[in-house]
Amino acid sequence: MTEATTARIGAIAADLDQFEGQLVTLEGWLYNRRSSGKIHFLQLRDGTATLQCVMVKKEVDPDAFADASKLPQESSIRVTGVVKRDERSPLGFELGVKALDVVSKADEYPISKKEHGVAFLMDHRHLWLRSSRQHVIVRIRHTIIKAVRDYFDGNGFTLVDAPVFTPNAVEGTSNLFGVEYFDRQAFLTQSGQLYMEAAAMAHGKVYCFGPTFRAEKSKTRRHLTEFWMVEPEVAYLDLEGDMDLAEDFLCFIVERVLAKHTEDLKTLGRDVDALRKVKKPFPRLTHAEAVDLINKAIDDGTADRRPAGTESMQHGEGADDEQVDATPTLTRARHDDDFGAEEETILGRLFDRPVLVHRYPYAVKAFYMKRDPEDDTRALCVDVLAPEGFGEIVGGGQREDDLDALLSRIEAHGLPQEVFEWYLDLRRYGSVPHSGFGLGIERTVAWICGLHHVRETIPFPRMLERLSP
Ligand code: 4AD
Ligand code: MG
Repeated sequence: MTEATTARIGAIAADLDQFEGQLVTLEGWLYNRRSSGKIHFLQLRDGTATLQCVMVKKEVDPDAFADASKLPQESSIRVTGVVKRDERSPLGFELGVKALDVVSKADEYPISKKEHGVAFLMDHRHLWLRSSRQHVIVRIRHTIIKAVRDYFDGNGFTLVDAPVFTPNAVEGTSNLFGVEYFDRQAFLTQSGQLYMEAAAMAHGKVYCFGPTFRAEKSKTRRHLTEFWMVEPEVAYLDLEGDMDLAEDFLCFIVERVLAKHTEDLKTLGRDVDALRKVKKPFPRLTHAEAVDLINKAIDDGTADRRPAGTESMQHGEGADDEQVDATPTLTRARHDDDFGAEEETILGRLFDRPVLVHRYPYAVKAFYMKRDPEDDTRALCVDVLAPEGFGEIVGGGQREDDLDALLSRIEAHGLPQEVFEWYLDLRRYGSVPHSGFGLGIERTVAWICGLHHVRETIPFPRMLERLSP
């Protein structure tokens, strides 16, 4: 036998002309097996894809053939064979097996073809990640993160990392995780924004990308306690410019995912045509206009409050969450309040692309938001709501750049001024209008992949009742 080269399935698929007829060794895991007396059809998973390897009894060592008939799922194996073009294979080829080497025989695998509940799958998340659907989601998440970085890196932004230990709250004090920091109290960061404001005054256009933490005490399908957020911040940018940036950025991400993953999205059951509609311009509504639209839909009886997305399983925690989300009757949206999940769903379902809602009531928004000079009941902020009922994916706006206005906001929010002195300095030394936003990666993955719950969008989710694996 000539020397086999070690290769990965994905690399062979990408260059089939070169590999056709070649002897290769694939290193992976047994995903599935079908056998007749004389042939084993082995599905080999190697991290890039799953390939059918055909093992014919009379062409291999008899012991190896017998071993293969007893191998449990997820045993690790090395398979050597010849690459054969095959039009019936989704990859365009299969492997004609010459030799099989068992690296480690697996115990009986706990995740079987039968339906499992959410709690069971989440308890086995470390293994569940190997299944084809979860594999696709993680790869799309990777593409989204790469697109996020490429967008900012290609548009003059500098990456500036924000700290995770912080001395203060950014997004309200009710969902802070406190940590012991030697003899002091510290918190896990809720957002890198305030640090990005400092960095924007040094670099003009910056972004940070990292994990952020919120002690969310309710179970909802949109909240994690640890999630990844990308936060651009730009000096000399107003709210209009901020909305343009968010719009352009979201179009770039969706285009990238469609270019690379249309087939993957279809395997998830995602309506790809709906994603193709994500093109500029996005509708822009004031909060007041949005409230009127929601209430009109409620009054007309056309309000569509169905939660978005599909799921890999229909039992356990999933069912509980539905009860948490559900309310018996629709409550009208209010002009003086923020939106709840249901209002975001109803509004998002009125449009075929993301909708930008700006100028929420000043009183209900974070302390750092700039007041609208045209209407002092409004903040110069924007939320982007995904279509099809996936809810808020972006929150941001123009920041208060006036020292006195900011001081009075810190006081009004009952926040300790001392810890914000450095932040106030940004208004003392060359203050400029500036804006930014935060995009939640998991909400974005849920929307783009069409997933009902954020728990499947991150490799190891952290939620109220889940800290392991
Ligand atoms: O709207 P948020 O709270 O905005 C901020 O933190 C700003 N300081 C960002 C900025 O302007 N630099 O959060 C931004 C986004 C939300 O739109 C949502 O996508 C995501 O972060 N997010 C969460 N995702 C998952 N679980 C949670 N508990 C989330 N909270 C916010
Ligand atoms: Mg928000």
